[in-house]
Amino acid sequence: MIRGLGMRIPSGIIKRSTILSTTCRYPGIISIGSIHRLSTKPTDPSHSKPSSSSSSNPFPIDPKHIQRQKQEEKLSTIQKWAKYFESEEFKRGGLTYYYVGAGICVIIAFYYYMRDRYYEDIQIKHVKAKYEQDPKSLLEYEFLMMKRLNNEKLRPKEDKKFKIYQMMRKEFRRKNLLNKDAIFEPTPEELEEWYQKQPRRSIKKAPILDEPIDKKDEVIEPEVKGNDNVSIVPAEDTTEFFEQKAATYDDAIKWEERGVLMGRRRQWLMKQVHGDVLEVACGTGRNIPYLYPELINSITFLDSSSRMVELASKKFQSYFPSFKKVGFTVGKAEDLINLVKENQAIKYDTIIETFGLCAHEDPVQALKNMKELLKPGGRIILLEHGRSTWGFINNHLDFRSERRMKTWGCRWNLDIPELIDDAGLDITYEKRVHLGTTYMLICKKPEDPMNQNEKPFINKLFGKDVSKPIEK
Ligand SMILES: C[S@@+](CC[C@H](N)C(=O)[O-])C[C@H]1O[C@@H](n2cnc3c(N)ncnc32)[C@H](O)[C@@H]1O
Repeated sequence: MIRGLGMRIPSGIIKRSTILSTTCRYPGIISIGSIHRLSTKPTDPSHSKPSSSSSSNPFPIDPKHIQRQKQEEKLSTIQKWAKYFESEEFKRGGLTYYYVGAGICVIIAFYYYMRDRYYEDIQIKHVKAKYEQDPKSLLEYEFLMMKRLNNEKLRPKEDKKFKIYQMMRKEFRRKNLLNKDAIFEPTPEELEEWYQKQPRRSIKKAPILDEPIDKKDEVIEPEVKGNDNVSIVPAEDTTEFFEQKAATYDDAIKWEERGVLMGRRRQWLMKQVHGDVLEVACGTGRNIPYLYPELINSITFLDSSSRMVELASKKFQSYFPSFKKVGFTVGKAEDLINLVKENQAIKYDTIIETFGLCAHEDPVQALKNMKELLKPGGRIILLEHGRSTWGFINNHLDFRSERRMKTWGCRWNLDIPELIDDAGLDITYEKRVHLGTTYMLICKKPEDPMNQNEKPFINKLFGKDVSKPIEK
């Protein structure tokens, strides 16, 4: 009997293969469509005779198929998609659509990219012509663009501004889509106005347990870039904090440092030193094990915490008992000039600092002092931590900035290159690791020339400066 049609089909006139193929999908039911394929001719009696298994079950159900179906039901959505991509069905039909779709997306992206390049090219020609006529007539954006075109390294703040200008330029192009003659000429005031109009995030501070409850949910208003960021807590004198921390400092940070292979970074720093060396905010002397005494003439250690200096001194004696040109001073980096004047006008070939700027009351003043104390051609080598290259990390640093200050006496969301910029130093080498939060930097005074190995690749290749700096 065919259910749904109320017809009885003699077993002899239905091919067994037909029944099997229909019953596999819908066990026990034959669709109307399948009736067309029924043969009216009586089949070979040997075929009409049901096999021993089908005699008890005229519409046999494949148990493996049922099992497979049940397994498939248990799969997660991702696994189902993965199975679909592996299937013949996808390879035969679906794949073509995906190829076509992907191709269209690539063409659209390429069109937008080329259109942007085309308009940028028009802008570049305009700026170059302006520069040739009168360099002084360049607007700030145009000046930065010329510096970029000249392969000059933008200062950290310039680089930030240039990125914002570029975003403005893209918006300007969207508004003037069909007007190829429209030239983007923004003033710094327009930049400021555009920047203020951008949507901002509100940031909640991480709760501090001993604060009154109503202060915990306080929402800080708009986030500002760099070191104007309101999430950066006010600087403090951390001397007393580190006096208390000194005895346990090494034990507290050694595992964290091993985990992120900080020893290699410290080693990099100590390989850069030469001549007369000053280490600012030396702490317990964690860089001492990486010192190459043969590279240096003398070394002076400074820290505002006397206990830290004591520990650094003991460490130095245990590593280099025969090295005599070593000094230890207790004092603040902000008072460096006065401290040095007391001991005659000493200058240094290399000044180093590791993870100290975050703990200073005035990091810019500290850097300015270091700059003053450099011999001509001297370098400041820094290993510091601060804002990341990743937004989501910065959100975390901002969120927990107050807690970090309380637990570690450190402002971990500072924009280190901006501090260096504010101190009037040039960066000749910059490498960032640990998702951009650890900075390895070499700085120099602006008036000092670059060493051959610090020059851009093209200049090294030709053995001289091939490009004249852009001047406004
Ligand atoms: C996070 S620890 C870093 C110690 C060490 N440089 C290191 O790499 O482990 C910060 C150090 O900066 C010192 N410090 C904080 N403010 C200072 C200041 N204004 N002048 C000099 N040292 C300072 C603290 O006493 C502390 O030893």
